[in-house]
Amino acid sequence: MDKKSKPFSDLADRIRFFEEIGAGFVFKSEAPRRAARPEGPRMADVRSDYGTNVPGSGPSGPAGESGLDLPRSARTLEDIAAEVRTCRKCGLAAGRTLAVPGEGNPKSPLLFVGEGPGHDEDVQGRPFVGRAGQLLTKIIQAMGYDRSEVFIANVVKCRPPENRVPHREEAETCAPFLLEQISVLRPRVIVTLGKTAVDFFLPDVKAMGMIRGNFQEWHGLPIMPTFHPSYLIRNEGNKEIKRMVWNDMQKVMAFLRGD
Ligand code: URA
Repeated sequence: MDKKSKPFSDLADRIRFFEEIGAGFVFKSEAPRRAARPEGPRMADVRSDYGTNVPGSGPSGPAGESGLDLPRSARTLEDIAAEVRTCRKCGLAAGRTLAVPGEGNPKSPLLFVGEGPGHDEDVQGRPFVGRAGQLLTKIIQAMGYDRSEVFIANVVKCRPPENRVPHREEAETCAPFLLEQISVLRPRVIVTLGKTAVDFFLPDVKAMGMIRGNFQEWHGLPIMPTFHPSYLIRNEGNKEIKRMVWNDMQKVMAFLRGD
């Protein structure tokens, strides 16, 4: 499904990015290794049941288990993706080139949820491959993972015209797909990127600022709301926003380590 991602053009680019988000220690010899990537096996090594392989325990229950309290769908992620690709349940289908079901490691304990495909995603049929996606890939790498080790999905699977925010009816029509993906994936933690993703899980939250950076609970799962990478791009010079996102991701890494 996913290829090994190479979002950094060169080493200088890579160092600059880590320094900007406050993770410059990644390139310093005294850096604590576990700060650069969580301890334990790489997520891609988690095979039959991520219950036993991920060390530690957290608010979602015994070591490595998803706390999800929704029933497991009998379908596979590929079954769901196939249905997404031919779906015509809402008006977004008429304007799309390709639907974007989502992609990644089906055993990943970590799920990122964005808003919906943009131009590049619509053309390629893959999530987060445009500019925002390249930034997300860098953030995932700063966390110590390759993007193929995590799972990435969106609230709506087809591109809204002019990249507008999806309408509520569109998000509601598409919701069964994301819900079913989650019920199959059974992640240990979900990172929501931006307000549309927060609205999907926590519709009563009025503003990102009220919850960003603090774990929320949804059906037994911890959700970490953070800014959308597009917001970081729009505020490119603002290192404080990058640092906030990096702090949020460090909380997610600590949770997955079982700290
Ligand atoms: N923005 C999103 O929310 N999702 C994508 O897949 C790409 C950009």
